[in-house]
Amino acid sequence: MLGTTYKPKQFNLSNLQGISDKTLEMHFKLYEGYVKGVNDLNQKIGELLADGKVDKEEFPAYSELTRRLGFEYNGMVLHEYYFGNLKSGGSGTPDKAFSTAAEKTFGSYDRWRTDFVSVGKMRGVGWAICYQDPNSGSLSNHWITLHEVGNVSGFNPIVVMDAWEHAFILDYAPADRPKYIDAFFSNVDWSAVKKRLQRGTIAPAA
Ligand SMILES: [Fe+2]
Repeated sequence: MLGTTYKPKQFNLSNLQGISDKTLEMHFKLYEGYVKGVNDLNQKIGELLADGKVDKEEFPAYSELTRRLGFEYNGMVLHEYYFGNLKSGGSGTPDKAFSTAAEKTFGSYDRWRTDFVSVGKMRGVGWAICYQDPNSGSLSNHWITLHEVGNVSGFNPIVVMDAWEHAFILDYAPADRPKYIDAFFSNVDWSAVKKRLQRGTIAPAA
């Protein structure tokens, strides 16, 4: 066994606008599967390391398990960011700290939102994530393929939207992803977003 055994976090989420409780319940189960996936990988890697070496015949299994760490860990953590920035009914409009950061980087909040929504509409399976550069304080929106391809090392996730079809397929047809994105925005907990901004910025934007 390696290090920590993770436990699924509990999210008191229901009654979202445009995202059904049925979707949330299915999604929570999926998230718990990632937590289990992380724990299982760590256990298996720990077993291979138990005798203090990775034998030649163990190396293929060791390599495959280690390759899967990025998928399972990011699958766990990104869902926590996603559920953590949702709240029934949202919390109104973005607070000043976020809109100021968006304006500084994109010229206006609306332009930031256009970029984020457009990232979210990209074809494929993944995530739309707004990150903050902890050094400059500036924001940038990124498409993450699966869970692990495209994350920017050291950048702080600020607004995280699941764009896999499982996030909305019980509520919308695949071609109606834009309706899901509208629903996502109507449920964003901007106070949670604000806390992430404050935590993640080493050198606050002037
Ligand atoms: Fe998901």
